[in-house]
Amino acid sequence: MKQAQIPLALDELPSKWYNIIPDLPGGLPAPKEPGEGESRIQALGRRMIGECLKQESSDSRWIDIPEPVRELYIQAGRPRPLYRAYRLEQKLGLTKVRLYYKREDLSPTGSHKVNTALAQAYYAAKEGKRVLVTETGAGQWGTALSYAASLMELSTVVFWVRAVYDWKMERRVLMEMYGAKVHASPSDQTSFGKQLLAENAHHPGSLGIAVSEGLEYVDGSPDRVYCLGSVLNHVLIHQSIIGLEAIKQFELVDDSPDLIVGCLGGGSNFGGIALPFLGEVLAGRRRCDFLAAQSEAAPNLIKGEYRYDFGDTAGHTPLLMMYTLGHEAVMQPIKSDGLRYHAAAPIISALKHAGHIRAVALPRDEVSAFTAAKLFLESEGWLIAGESAHAVRAAIDEAKASEAKSEEKCILINISGHGFLDIDAYRDILHLGTSKSQ
Ligand SMILES: Cc1ncc(COP(=O)(O)O)c(C=O)c1O
Repeated sequence: MKQAQIPLALDELPSKWYNIIPDLPGGLPAPKEPGEGESRIQALGRRMIGECLKQESSDSRWIDIPEPVRELYIQAGRPRPLYRAYRLEQKLGLTKVRLYYKREDLSPTGSHKVNTALAQAYYAAKEGKRVLVTETGAGQWGTALSYAASLMELSTVVFWVRAVYDWKMERRVLMEMYGAKVHASPSDQTSFGKQLLAENAHHPGSLGIAVSEGLEYVDGSPDRVYCLGSVLNHVLIHQSIIGLEAIKQFELVDDSPDLIVGCLGGGSNFGGIALPFLGEVLAGRRRCDFLAAQSEAAPNLIKGEYRYDFGDTAGHTPLLMMYTLGHEAVMQPIKSDGLRYHAAAPIISALKHAGHIRAVALPRDEVSAFTAAKLFLESEGWLIAGESAHAVRAAIDEAKASEAKSEEKCILINISGHGFLDIDAYRDILHLGTSKSQ
């Protein structure tokens, strides 16, 4: 019997996260002050979770996952299965290429974001904070944090990019069911938001603007703390649980990926699946390539410059060394809006700069990505998020290219989220649901 699902036993759940920083040749460029205004590094100390900031600059390769967080991971369905995509392979006529996918879509709120949300909510509660404040793009991060906060009996305030807030009503309801207060960003809750609204009452917003508003809002009360859903080192550390599980699962089936593909906005799901494998590549224990699938709407790794830039539009964060399109770049909204961020995580950027990661940008009309997701649905049966559809498209293109050259290859795809709340995006991009009753 062919077994498509490769589970991992509960007692195999990793007990430590992996931090690649000590293994980066040449280390990671340190954050910098912009040279005017208040110290951004000191401000972060006031605005963010102490334990997360400690992890941000940790030089420990392995970081203990607190027992209560491991319990929460299990409650949230970890370890998550790895799948061999036998049916998609057959549909594509692959004979040389093996496809696998890791199931981060099987989380309570539908994405990988839960992996860091649970850790951040746990640390925030331990440090006596009562209100978690954050930004969200596609809505997945805001939902994940609202869920984690509700389990820890904290409340959440979410600044949600207005262009998406306006059309993802179901996800807004879900956040509110978890008890969150959700504001369309730019909002009237902050001076930065008010200034942008005065310039344009219909401002579509962006992740960078939502981060700026959230950071400003935190300053209003010592009960509040800022939680970031991507980009920063501690977020990628928490997400390493994905790749650490996958390494054990490949051992169970005596196989090993030659190529790992994930979609990339800020870099958290891609980092989560890739970095534990990449650490072994850097140590000379494994050979594997890494491909980040982006959108032409925000091709930060491809068209961005590698330089110091702010993580938010208003310039509240320290300067980070990243591939960036510029913190004030205007990027048109897309349906897979989780991919629309101006810069890639410093860790991912350093690895791209050193030649360890490739990137591809898919057309901004999203047709090719969503068509790949439909093929995935028809063959594997699972409805995936628009962001994850970019990874599936890029992996299918790679698989076809290898097959055409009769090249043996094993490809691992990270499925970062489910698409149950993205149905109207599929309807609009693929022109579905228009048939009339007879
Ligand atoms: C399902 C899903 N995948 C991917 C992303 C992109 O973010 P990151 O690059 O941090 O994984 C998002 C962001 O919202 C998302 O919701």
